Amino acid sequence: MAKLILNGAEQEVAVDPGMPLLWAIRDISGLSGTKYGCGVGLCGACTVHVDGSAERSCQITVGDVEGKQVTTIEGLDPAGDHRVQVAWRELSVPQCGFCQSGQIMQAAALLEEKPEPSDEEILAAMAGNVCRCGCYQRIVEAVRLAST
Ligand code: FES
Repeated sequence: MAKLILNGAEQEVAVDPGMPLLWAIRDISGLSGTKYGCGVGLCGACTVHVDGSAERSCQITVGDVEGKQVTTIEGLDPAGDHRVQVAWRELSVPQCGFCQSGQIMQAAALLEEKPEPSDEEILAAMAGNVCRCGCYQRIVEAVRLAST
């Protein structure tokens, strides 16, 4: 049994604390917005926030986040109107969409840390989030648009 604080709500989950957080989010808590891409920390599709920082949920365990705030795409802004999501819609960023929740979570964490990132900082922060459709130019433009 482990305790998760997921999108602001504390819940007890009947899992081994060594279970990857991604598994618990998707299969135990039933939140499917966080995606399984590679499972080895290379694609960024599983990005969530842990105490506000972008983390690969396939690379950390339920035990690692006990007592910490875990936020998924569903909890970023329940109405879907986080400034990053608004910019994403405005610029029609996604193509297939699979990687987009991870991209958005990564971008949102960047803008919390650096409200006005340079293009170099945007590229560096987003470099670990892979998009098979190649939407990289629109992703950078949307991060720029969402910055204050
Ligand atoms: Fe976690 Fe690819 S699924 S980085």
